[in-house]
Amino acid sequence: MKQKPSSPTVDRRTFLKGLGTSAVAVASVQVGAMADEITKAAGPGGASPQGPGAVPVTLTINGEKKDFQLEPRVTLLDALRNYGPLTGTKEVCDRGTCGACTVLIDGKPAYSCMKLAIDAQAHEITTIEGLAQGGQLTAVQQAFIDCDDLMCGFCTPGFVLVTTALLTENPKPTVADIKRACSGNLCRCGTYPHIIKAALQASGQAVPETTTIIQHGNA
Ligand code: FES
Ligand code: FES
Repeated sequence: MKQKPSSPTVDRRTFLKGLGTSAVAVASVQVGAMADEITKAAGPGGASPQGPGAVPVTLTINGEKKDFQLEPRVTLLDALRNYGPLTGTKEVCDRGTCGACTVLIDGKPAYSCMKLAIDAQAHEITTIEGLAQGGQLTAVQQAFIDCDDLMCGFCTPGFVLVTTALLTENPKPTVADIKRACSGNLCRCGTYPHIIKAALQASGQAVPETTTIIQHGNA
């Protein structure tokens, strides 16, 4: 006579308990591997991993060295706004999509929400507060005022810094150059034609009517 297959010896409770134990074991292996990677990255006798508590961070902002105590997870944007305090750098999306947080790092535009403050050490950081000298606005700042570029103004510091970097590299940009340079920055109030006019004025070029820019903006 054929024997009945024996019933499973592992019940549901035991099975689930086993799963939990395996998951913990896998997680432990992963944490161990990460720790090994961090140790390897530091190199033999290299710096030990930083944090998670506050550590000393020195930033060069607008030509001045400033000392902070920051957790390594703090972004450059948060360091500037909350510890600077330099609130001209705006926080809007906090995820690298709008450009409101733009600063110059070694003269190049960068999203400060996408950079850790601890990684910005040993670089020259320029914020909107660092442009005017002795109360004298730069040509770009003055052009933004003259061309009526501000509605809510949240995007303006970012656009001013991007335009400043553009004119440093390319003193006579075309409209297409200006559009390309500003393509990482959003103005929800729609002041784009005015920003183009400001960049042209600041670069000493003829400033067309706003309607001309809108109709022939790619010229
Ligand atoms: S706040 Fe940084 S890109 Fe929007
Ligand atoms: S002026 Fe409001 S977002 Fe540009």
